[in-house]
Amino acid sequence: MEGQGRNAVYLASLGHRVTAQDLSPVGLERAEQLAQQRGATIECLCCNLNDLQLEAESTDLVVAIWMHLPPDLRGRVHAQALRALRPGGHLILEAYTPRQQRFGTGGPPTAELLIEPDQVRTEWQGLDWLLLREQERWIEEGPYHRGQSAVVQAVGRKPRRDRAHPPIAAMGLCVYRHTSV
Ligand SMILES: C[S@@+](CC[C@H](N)C(=O)[O-])C[C@H]1O[C@@H](n2cnc3c(N)ncnc32)[C@H](O)[C@@H]1O
Repeated sequence: MEGQGRNAVYLASLGHRVTAQDLSPVGLERAEQLAQQRGATIECLCCNLNDLQLEAESTDLVVAIWMHLPPDLRGRVHAQALRALRPGGHLILEAYTPRQQRFGTGGPPTAELLIEPDQVRTEWQGLDWLLLREQERWIEEGPYHRGQSAVVQAVGRKPRRDRAHPPIAAMGLCVYRHTSV
């Protein structure tokens, strides 16, 4: 659910190997164009998250920004992405919470697509949380996402099996597969 590629291109420009996943070929075409403009390279994966297959422990970072899905699909995607994270890998997530409905400043129209911090904690069970909070903040991301908003922000790390070893350098879902060199 990378949309038009802003996160993927930013991460690729830092030197990571990135896979941007989305349902929309048009969005991914724009993502490719943005990458070209910035002199970055991204891999695009055009598919429905319902059909997504991720290899276990294949990715160092999962980035899920505004990934609003029906609860059943969301649970399956989160479970698969959790399995795809390497030990030591990270999740970065930001999404609207149900309190967003009071603001009317963007986000999904239906309550079931919004997510509670506790649901993030449960669906990503086993991560060590560096940050997991609900926050109200000003969002300025185009005409449909502008204004004071209620969001959950999360940064989690999958525990390493052997904490004596240094971390793997970098990352991959919403979907990013990152390997920094
Ligand atoms: C709000 S945008 C996400 C934007 C992006 N993450 C960002 O931060 O700019 C939601 C995106 O999810 C995609 N999408 C919606 N349902 C999907 C599904 N079932 N599988 C894959 N992509 C989906 C849409 O095509 C759209 O690009």
